[in-house]
Amino acid sequence: MSDLRLTTRRLRLRSWRDSDRSPFAAMNADPAVCEFLPGTLTREQSDALVDRFRALEAEHGFTGWAVEETATGTFVGYVGLVVPRFEPPFAHASEPCVEIGWRLARRFWGQGYATEAAQACLEHAFGPLALPEVVSFTVPANARSRAVMERIGMAHDAGSDFDHPALPAGDRLSHHVLYRAVPARPGIMPT
Ligand SMILES: CC(C)(COP(=O)(O)OP(=O)(O)OC[C@H]1O[C@@H](n2cnc3c(N)ncnc32)[C@H](O)[C@@H]1OP(=O)(O)O)[C@@H](O)C(=O)NCCC(=O)NCCS
Repeated sequence: MSDLRLTTRRLRLRSWRDSDRSPFAAMNADPAVCEFLPGTLTREQSDALVDRFRALEAEHGFTGWAVEETATGTFVGYVGLVVPRFEPPFAHASEPCVEIGWRLARRFWGQGYATEAAQACLEHAFGPLALPEVVSFTVPANARSRAVMERIGMAHDAGSDFDHPALPAGDRLSHHVLYRAVPARPGIMPT
């Protein structure tokens, strides 16, 4: 079976290959990429994330997919749909809660790749997967990630902002903003 999952104008989203492990680890060792994460990842931690993405795809049929540039075949990063590891503290319509997320290597920022791939994932979520809702969250200062959420039409639900349960209270990365997307309702026209 092909490992290709989604295609966009410039990108392929596919299952993980062992050859992705090295460029993924290099990306996860970049402090700029990990500025709003608890820290950079070691090779072992990066590989464990690949293993987790593979396990999520086996379990749910979707995951944070590896993204490659169609024109060059170069590994760009990951974009996709994941089930968070923690019990979401915010009320949510989908069971399990499904989060859309992204992380690209620094040299691929500023080209619209994250938005392009994320848009395809949302269409997949509300089309073939028929999910009732997709959420996304990040720290308030992560303006680039919030801009992707807004570009793909997600709405900030300020009443659902939360402190991440995996981080100690008061940690600089503890507080998170919560964005939601729901399927467009056919037949309901704006007046
Ligand atoms: C979050 C992240 C994926 C956003 O990447 P990004 O490149 O800023 O976002 P996009 O791919 O949507 O690109 C948008 C930019 O490309 C520009 N662009 C250039 N060509 C474009 C094109 N053909 N189409 C669309 N946008 C284009 C846009 O104008 C915009 O530029 P700006 O940054 O000056 O506003 C990236 O910063 C990242 O990987 N960060 C580290 C990991 C992280 O924090 N992940 C989220 C954790 S919750």
